[in-house]
Amino acid sequence: MTSIQERQKQEVAAHALEVVEPDLHPDLPIGVGTGTTADCFIDALAALRGRFAGAVASSERSAARLAGHGIAVLDVNDVTELPVYVDGADEVTSALAMLKGGGGALTREKIVAAIARRFICIVDASKLVARLGRFPLPIEVIPMARAYVVRQLHALGGPGVTVHVRSGAGGQPFMTDNGNVILDVGGLQISDAQALERQIDAVVGVVSNGLFACRGADLLLVGGPDGVKIMAPSG
Ligand code: A5P
Repeated sequence: MTSIQERQKQEVAAHALEVVEPDLHPDLPIGVGTGTTADCFIDALAALRGRFAGAVASSERSAARLAGHGIAVLDVNDVTELPVYVDGADEVTSALAMLKGGGGALTREKIVAAIARRFICIVDASKLVARLGRFPLPIEVIPMARAYVVRQLHALGGPGVTVHVRSGAGGQPFMTDNGNVILDVGGLQISDAQALERQIDAVVGVVSNGLFACRGADLLLVGGPDGVKIMAPSG
């Protein structure tokens, strides 16, 4: 990550805090995502501790960072109302469809996003794309189904598609917070992201995939060279 990107992430995270402030309520939690941009948001959020009931996190990593700031981390199962969820993305379009999961937290991110009333996506300018798919698509898979899902993805994507089992520490397969593996799929031609999201989710053994097109973001904040730009789905 360049220092320019780093600065844009910090600026967009600080701006997101202003955007979510009206959503904060002392009896309600806030949803927080995963990644370096979400980390910047968590650090900024610490200044408003006490103005909301705590946070639900999309990963153990973010939960630890929130707790480090003295922000209570709540079990998602105990939360029925979540006014807002703030998270980054690996790619996002002007229609606010996203490709996520570079940090391996995609399934928990989808769960928190499903509960949230508003999904606010925060990215640096490098993440804005005309079409999703240059970043390899992460797919969370039950370990027992790994080889079967790899074959199905090759059949679905055709000859140009590559499928890699993500590696973690010591060359072992990366393991998600849910105890599953991640397949990173390259070379996909994504012309209809919603259709592909449903198609991949329908493969037995797939827990979820990193396309957030069926439930995209409600607001996009992009940190760029000229400051932070705010985009709504129609824009
Ligand atoms: C985590 O699983 C991802 O979905 C992240 O939202 C994504 O990888 C963005 O990460 P950065 O903010 O570190 O670029």
